[in-house]
Parts: sequence; structure tokens; C-alpha cells
Amino acid sequence: MDKAFLLSLIEVLLEHVSEGIHVTDSKGCTLYYNTAAAQIDGIRPEDAIGKHVLEMFPSLDGETSTILRALKNGERVITKEQSISNMYGSPVFLESATLPLKNGTTVLGAVDITRDLTQVKQLAEKVVDLQSEVNAYRFSRQHGGEREQARYVLDDIVGQDIGVLEMKNRAMRAARTNSPVLVSGETGTGKELLVQAIHNAGPRRSGPFISQNCAALPASLMEGILFGTARGSFTGAENRPGLVELADGGTLFLDEITCLDVELQSKLLRFIQDGFVRRIGEAKVRRVNVRIIASTNVEPREAVGKNLLRPDLYYRLNVVNLQIPPLRERRRDILLLSTNFLAELNRRIGTRVKGLTAEVEKVFLAYDWPGNVRELRATLEGALNIAEGEYLEISHLPAYLAARKTEELSLGGIEGLSLSEALAKVERSIINQALAKAGGNISRTSRLLGIPRQTLQYKLKGMGMVKRT
Ligand SMILES: Nc1ncnc2c1ncn2[C@@H]1O[C@H](COP(=O)(O)OP(=O)(O)OP(=O)(O)O)[C@@H](O)[C@H]1O
Ligand SMILES: [Mg+2]
Repeated sequence: MDKAFLLSLIEVLLEHVSEGIHVTDSKGCTLYYNTAAAQIDGIRPEDAIGKHVLEMFPSLDGETSTILRALKNGERVITKEQSISNMYGSPVFLESATLPLKNGTTVLGAVDITRDLTQVKQLAEKVVDLQSEVNAYRFSRQHGGEREQARYVLDDIVGQDIGVLEMKNRAMRAARTNSPVLVSGETGTGKELLVQAIHNAGPRRSGPFISQNCAALPASLMEGILFGTARGSFTGAENRPGLVELADGGTLFLDEITCLDVELQSKLLRFIQDGFVRRIGEAKVRRVNVRIIASTNVEPREAVGKNLLRPDLYYRLNVVNLQIPPLRERRRDILLLSTNFLAELNRRIGTRVKGLTAEVEKVFLAYDWPGNVRELRATLEGALNIAEGEYLEISHLPAYLAARKTEELSLGGIEGLSLSEALAKVERSIINQALAKAGGNISRTSRLLGIPRQTLQYKLKGMGMVKRT
């Protein structure tokens, strides 16, 4: 590539990326300023060229300007969220990476790459405003005895598995207290359902139920959302209660707690311990009475080990700990859940399917359901949409499930084989099904098949299958 080609390539690229790019010389005077930067900062490019960073952003100084810091220290500066004012006095909220441009150790200049978060921030604040409105509306309707937000009750949790029954039992007892609760389980196992049910099973059922996903927003926004802001605490901030305050008298459900920034985890811990909230930028503290329920789809101790969950918060949250087993570990619930979902979906879709064919039952029982109950429900809904006749058949299932049937015992597949070949094939397929049912556990598989563990291992070896325990 010749130089002219390369230069024009770089220019085209810089003009068309959505990140703002701002290049300065070693003193901090602007050499290059792309269209995206102009849009994000709200500064006209012709006003920017030649200007010093502090002229463009009068609210900054030598310490808060990431460009000046990168120039001074010769090191890159990464900022997750920054709130600044541009030269026309408008607030800008952004995240940036500022990199020094160096020749050896000599700093020649800096490049600042930014992404606009203003809209994300506005949306986040809108969420809190809407949440307050919904609450006000809910409370006004409550005099008529209606509840809106937490719609599930414990009876909605379907299951005969002993683990699920015990969990429901403990949830019912926990609903009477105010202790924090930590719910864990893989995706789709019904964490949200359980949390709503706990809220509705206790005295807080007449108070608000507020749910917030901790993975949804960057940390600085989340802090304001949870704990509230006072006017002027940062550029553009309004007087706003946080979700903790809005949940006063009820339950605050923090979904995916392991995604909450660790600093905020410690702030949350303090709140759980003393029951006071302080809005950002305000000296006043307010007492609120909120039950915190948190959920995680990572096993909690594993989350602590990976530094996703602060140990101190874990111990405080874990006062009541409810673990929902994955569907593959409670296979007896698969058919029960299917029957319930069929009844409900028939009503909703207007179909009249009575049940599953024996073949479909077999496939369902052998499948591992990585998406758990949600996946089972979605599979049934999909199948009902194309079903004709009284029973759901293999042909109504998505291809990856329907294909599992072919691995199963079918006499058609052994035609033309010698007796020993046919027996080996049948044996292999029976063992495979049992292995799937037992989630790959050798001891359980041998019990299912009614043969000693060693015999099973011997057979697996003969079949060239890797031992899984
Ligand atoms: N035991 C159950 N009985 C009846 N329905 C259930 C049960 N468990 C889950 N469901 C249904 O499965 C779907 C998924 O449940 P939910 O949203 O509570 O899962 P989750 O654990 O919060 O998942 P994620 O981690 O992905 O957020 C919902 O439609 C829920 O009603
Ligand atoms: Mg959920």
C-alpha cells in the first residue's frame, strides 16, 4: 500500500466510525476532530481545530481532562463514565479511552476515543421515572384491592421433585420474615417466578415489588438508579428517589447480582445492615423498610471465588438461600410441567392438544434442557403452533429435538444386521438413553439399568465411550 492510499484509507475510516475521535498535539491543542466527536460533544469541528482541550471543555482541568493526563503521564486513561460540560454549556455523558501518541518516551500528542452515553443515561433515568409513576398508579389502584407487579404465587411453581418441594416449603416460611434472600439457579429455572411468589406469600404483598436487572446498566448509572440522586450532584442530575426508596414497604429484587459493580455491592451491604439510604449528592439519610432478594445464575460460592460477588455481601444475602435445581436433575417434573403448560397454552392459543405421543415423551425425558423450564415451555408453544390432531408428535418438534429420536431404539435400524450386531446396537442405544436420563452419572445410570457399576463401565469401554462420572 502506498502512503497516499493509506492516508486516505485512515481518513475515511476515522470519519465513518461511530466513536468520537479527538487528536491533540503534545500541548493539548486539537489537530483532528471527527464528525462523531463533533456530534457527541456538541461542538462544531471548525470551532474545535486549533483549540486547547480546556477551551473546548471549560468544566475540566489538568486532572479531570483525560487528554491532559495522558499527555502528562504518557499513559493511557480509560474512563468508564464521565460527565462533562462542553464549551456551549451543555451536559455530555460519555465513556472514553485516551491514548498517548509516543515516539519512544517522547509524548507527541494524544488521541481520545469516546462513546456517547447521554442517551443511555437519559433512558436509565426514564426507567426510574416510569417506575415511580407505575408505583404511584399501583398504589392508587390498590385501594380497589388490586396488585399489578408480582403476579406469581407459590402454587404457580409446578414440580413434584423433592428438591423443588423442599424449596417451596422453605420459600413459604421465608416469606414471613424480612431477611435477605439469595436465589440461585441456571437460566430458565424459574428464579423470577420464585421471587415474585415469595413477595406475594408474605405481609409485603401489599407493598411494592420492584425488580432491577444488575447487568443492564453501567455502574455510575446504576448507583443513581438504586440509591437516587439529588439535583446538581452531577451534570444534569435531578432530584430522584432510587429504587431502594421506591420499594419502601415492599421487596426489591436485584436480578443477576453478580453483575453489580463491587463498590455498589458494598454500598448495598451497608444499606442491608443499617436500613438507611442516602441519595447521591445529598447529605440527608432516609430510613426505608425494604426486603432485598437477589438472584444469580452462577453458583453463589463459585461467584465469590471468581470475585463476582463480595464475600461479605454473600454472607449477608445468603441468610435464606434457595437453589433451584436444573430441569435435567429433576426429570420427573418434565412431563408434569408439559401437562400444565399444554393446558395453559391450549387456552391461550386456542388449540386442543391432549398430550404428547410416547415418542415425544421419550425424547423429552432424555433431553438435557439447557434452557430449563423456559426452553420446555417455548418448545411446547412452538409445537402447538404447527400441531394438528390430538397429540404432539415428533414432527412438530424443532429439528434438533426431532433428530434425537433417530438415536433411539428403533427396530427399523437393525434390519439386515447379524444377531450380534443387532444386539450390540440395541444395547448401545439403551445405555445411551439411560446415560442421558442420569445426566451422565455412571452410578445413577447403572441403577437405572439394573446392572453393577463395573459392568456398565466395562460395556462403555467396549463401546469406545469415554467414562463420565
Ligand atoms: N416450576 C415452574 N413451574 C411453572 N413454570 C415455571 C417453573 N419454572 C419456570 N417456569 C416458567 O419458565 C419461564 C422462565 O422462568 P423465569 O423467568 O422465572 O426463569 P429465571 O430463572 O429467572 O431465568 P433467567 O436466569 O434466564 O432470568 C417462565 O415462563 C416461568 O413462568
Ligand atoms: Mg430471570
